[in-house]
Amino acid sequence: MKQISGLKKPALLQQIQWILNPAGYMEDAVQELPDIFVAQVVGLGNTLVFVNDPQAIQYILTNDRKEFTAPGEINQILVPLVGDTSIFLLSGDRHRRQRQLLMPPFHGDRMRAYGELIINLADRAMSEMPVGQTFLARSATQTISLQVMLQAVFGVQQGESYEQLRYLTGAMADTFSSPLASSFLFFPSLQKDWGSWSPWAKFLQQRQQLDTLLYAEIADRRAHPDASRTDILSLLMAAQDETGQPMTDQELRDELVSLLIAGHETTASAMAWALYWVHALPEVRTKLLAELDALNGDFSDPMAIARLPYLTAVCQETLRIYPIAMLTFPRQVQQPIELMGYALEPGMILVGCIYLVHQRPDLYPNPKQFQPERFLDKKFSSYEFIPFGGGARRCIGEALAMFELKLALALILSRYELALAEPQSSVKPQRRGVTLAPGGGVKLKRIGQRG
Ligand code: HEM
Repeated sequence: MKQISGLKKPALLQQIQWILNPAGYMEDAVQELPDIFVAQVVGLGNTLVFVNDPQAIQYILTNDRKEFTAPGEINQILVPLVGDTSIFLLSGDRHRRQRQLLMPPFHGDRMRAYGELIINLADRAMSEMPVGQTFLARSATQTISLQVMLQAVFGVQQGESYEQLRYLTGAMADTFSSPLASSFLFFPSLQKDWGSWSPWAKFLQQRQQLDTLLYAEIADRRAHPDASRTDILSLLMAAQDETGQPMTDQELRDELVSLLIAGHETTASAMAWALYWVHALPEVRTKLLAELDALNGDFSDPMAIARLPYLTAVCQETLRIYPIAMLTFPRQVQQPIELMGYALEPGMILVGCIYLVHQRPDLYPNPKQFQPERFLDKKFSSYEFIPFGGGARRCIGEALAMFELKLALALILSRYELALAEPQSSVKPQRRGVTLAPGGGVKLKRIGQRG
């Protein structure tokens, strides 16, 4: 059996490149070691193996409750944001129970109920923009996705504390918007309060303010229970563990922050990328508009819109070419095992490298080209196209994220005439916390109204 090789590049250089230019890091690595390599990057433990062979990923993700586990403790990097009782940090039975609790609100009828809300929010975000105004697509899409998550989590959309929650959640997520600021997450030694001017002190202050609001909301709901509420906080507060205990205030707080941040950050970047691609490539915009114009401005059936084939393909290609999550969460080897002829030892930590799978020329010819048609011509397996991971930790927000991406794109494109307000070449994938986002946020200009 072969041993998995590491990259020639010194560890320090790997760490710096992984933080400052993760896409470049992965592309250099695959030239040297295709399919599988040991990465020396910070934030995820030492012996970390990146896997980008779809069959190997399928094996790992379909056995991640047996030969492999999906331990939450390895996600330590997220603790400053989401706390240590978040779903991201849980393992084993506790993790499985929490997933069972959180999954239903993001599927089926409950998810469908968000359709009208998404359409209205997307319309409002654009209509408030004066004609001739240049704006950042990612700021506009963040406004949309944050409000969707706040509605899902709290079931409200107005009021003073709602506005404060909205501001503070957005501000906390924005703390890690640049690659340099992201290093605070990767190097715990930088997580120091150097006085009120320092970035970490500012982050702690915002987190404290957000926590105060969340704990006040939890206390208020405990004091005034309302069985008719169907929002996620009410659902979490009604839940009990196997011994009949409800979730503690800290557990509730950690779960709320996890959902608010994971649910709005990722989708905002995906929507901004989609707006970039359709405005950078006129032929894609024209083709998509031809499909959307057949709706004659009727947005009353969001589910039918979400089924449109070219719209779906554009959204899939958006998540293929620059997946927002570059890696799956880590999986840990439990027993000696052979994978693709390589020896895996217990304790080794593996991640599915979503970015590199999506860049494989054998699966996606001309992978650097944005070609939605590839999704119309071929059906990819869940391990060839894996923007939401798979197995025990598969994203619970996948259906909502896709729904939001499709509806917001369809509405904005149908009703508003926008243009890219910067050269195409200036928009590059850039680290944003633990995700990949369009660098600079994509400058767009509103040039008119369509319908
Ligand atoms: C385009 C948007 C999104 C992308 C690309 C994305 C991607 C991912 C990925 C790759 C994972 C890890 C899967 C694995 O390790 O196998 C994940 C997990 C997760 N996502 Fe998402 N996600 C998105 C939107 C959302 C939304 C809207 C929510 C909110 C409901 C959400 C909540 C979560 C949670 C709670 C987990 C952890 C699941 C667990 O630990 O069991 N995500 N996501």
